[in-house]
Amino acid sequence: MKALILAGGKGTRLRPITFSMAKQLVPVANKPVLFYGLEAIADAGIREVGMIVGDTAAEIERAVGDGSRWGVQVTYIPQPEPLGLAHAVLTAEPYLRDEPFLMYLGDNLVTSSLQPLVQAFQQRQPNALILLAEVPNPQEFGVAELEGERVVRLIEKPQQPPSNLALVGVYLFDKHIFEAARAIKPSWRGELEITDAIQYLIDHGYTVESQQITGWWKDTGSLDALLEANRLVLEDLQPSQQGTLEETTLYGRVAIGEGSLLRRCTVRGPAIIGANCHLEDCYIGAFTAIGDGVRLVSCEIEYSIVLEGSCVESVETRIEGSLLGKNAVVRGGARRPRTLRLMLGDSSLVETP
Ligand code: TTP
Repeated sequence: MKALILAGGKGTRLRPITFSMAKQLVPVANKPVLFYGLEAIADAGIREVGMIVGDTAAEIERAVGDGSRWGVQVTYIPQPEPLGLAHAVLTAEPYLRDEPFLMYLGDNLVTSSLQPLVQAFQQRQPNALILLAEVPNPQEFGVAELEGERVVRLIEKPQQPPSNLALVGVYLFDKHIFEAARAIKPSWRGELEITDAIQYLIDHGYTVESQQITGWWKDTGSLDALLEANRLVLEDLQPSQQGTLEETTLYGRVAIGEGSLLRRCTVRGPAIIGANCHLEDCYIGAFTAIGDGVRLVSCEIEYSIVLEGSCVESVETRIEGSLLGKNAVVRGGARRPRTLRLMLGDSSLVETP
C-alpha cells in the first residue's frame, strides 16, 4: 500500500505565516506538523509516499528530502493549482495507479496509530474507509451519517448534524476513488471536494466504511487549532535539560535545548525551549513552544508558539494564545507617550482579548 500526503493548498486561514512558509512546516512542540504524519505513516508499515506539493514545494522538499529519515521513499507530485482534495487525488493517479492507498492531510495531527486502520482496510477490502472523530461542534466539519460502521451520507458543515462524528484527515481508498473524483463537479468554492467524491462512491453502490479514532485529532490549519495541537502534544512532553540555568526555576515538565541560557526566569511546564535561546527575566507559562535561537528579555509568554530567531523584549503585557513567525520582533519600552509602533504584514492580527 502507498500513502498520499497532501502538502499543497493555500493556507489562507494561517496568514500571514503562510505568506512566507508552508503551513505543514509550522512547528508543533518544535517539530513540523508534517513530520508527525510521516512518522505515523512509517509506523503503519507504509514505505512508498507520494507528496502533493504546491507553491511551497521547494521548502517542503528541503525539509523532508527523500524520506530516508523515516525509512520511507518520498516522491513529490506537483499540483499546478490547489483545486481541492479530490483534485489532488486525480493529480496523483499516475503515481498511485491501481493500488489502494492511504491519504493523509499534511496539516492534520492524529495521535492514534494508523496500523489498525490499514489492517481493517486490508482484511475487509471496502472501496473506502474513513476515519471519524467525535467533536463538540460538528456544524464546523464534514459529518458522517452511519448505519452500523457503514457510511450512508456525508454532509459538509451541516446546520442540523445527523451525528457528532467529523471526518478526520485520514482516508483509505481503492482505485474507484479516481472514477468518483472524475465524475464530480467543483463545489461553490470552486474545489473538487473529497466528501463529494466519497458520496459518489456511496451513491453508486460502493462500500464506504468508517472507524472511530481512539486518541485525539487536530487540523492545524487555523491559529486556535494549532495552539490546541501544541497543547495536546506538550501534554506528553518528556523533560530534558541541556541548557544553562542561572537563578532560574523550572516547574513541571520542561525541555531545554543545547546552548540555551535562562537567567532569572520562571518556566512553568509543560513547555519546550529550543537550542541557542537567550531568556532573561522572563516568565514562560504552560503549553508554550519556543523555537531555536529565540531571544526573550523582560516578558511573559504563555500558551503560545514562537518560531526560530524571534525576539520579544521589554513587553509588560503577558503574551498569550499567540503565534510569532520566524525572526519576528516585539519590543516595548518605558518612554512616554506609551504609543504602539507597528510594521505588520498583510493579514496580520494584533488584539487584546
Ligand atoms: P485545507 O486546509 O482544507 O485547505 P488549504 O490548505 O487551502 O487551507 P485554507 O482553507 O486555510 O486556505 O487543506 C488540507 C490539506 O490538504 C492541507 O495540508 C493542504 C492540502 N491541500 C492540497 O494539497 N491540495 C489542495 O488542492 C487543497 C485544497 C489542500
